[in-house]
Amino acid sequence: MEMQQVISNLNLKEKYFDHPSHIHGINHTYRVMVHAYILGSQVLDESGQKSVLAAAFIHDMARKHDGYCTEHGGWAADNKLPVFKATFDKLGINHWNIIADAVTSHSLYEEFPAVHPSWPVTSVLKDADALDRFRIGEKNLNISFLRHEFTHEMIDFARELYLSTVNLNFRSFTEVLQHAKQISHQNKRPWSNIL
Ligand SMILES: [Fe+2]
Ligand SMILES: [Fe+2]
Repeated sequence: MEMQQVISNLNLKEKYFDHPSHIHGINHTYRVMVHAYILGSQVLDESGQKSVLAAAFIHDMARKHDGYCTEHGGWAADNKLPVFKATFDKLGINHWNIIADAVTSHSLYEEFPAVHPSWPVTSVLKDADALDRFRIGEKNLNISFLRHEFTHEMIDFARELYLSTVNLNFRSFTEVLQHAKQISHQNKRPWSNIL
């Protein structure tokens, strides 16, 4: 399935979230999907790019609260991945082990070794999630934890994306990508033509 098809079918609804919230809800998830899409285009093959979008889509859906929690990734893999499997499958996304590993480990401190088959997708999800830490304060992005060189080039953009979307409501992931394209274009970001 074409990437465009994938993008137009990954639209979030508040009812998908066990704990709808401004901190870990729809807008945060859409921003993480944007970061995962851009970073994925640089460091993943096509199958990995699709898997990381699916993983980002569900990664915080099973949170029970907005506080520190290492378990909500595992809950999302157990309870949300099955809900969306048929949707993902229709879009040609079916690397379930990799998606489950990425979602589970996004809330854990431990990292996969770089040779592990789940490392590429997991590392992109974790960097994409980290890029949206501006929402809980500028100091919360610890750049020494970033796993990809390219992620460092996205930090200013991540701040712009957060500040420009915090009070907006989006109807679709396509709309969020259009917004991301606009602010990327204004600031001449090298990825503006892939959005
Ligand atoms: Fe999370
Ligand atoms: Fe998150």
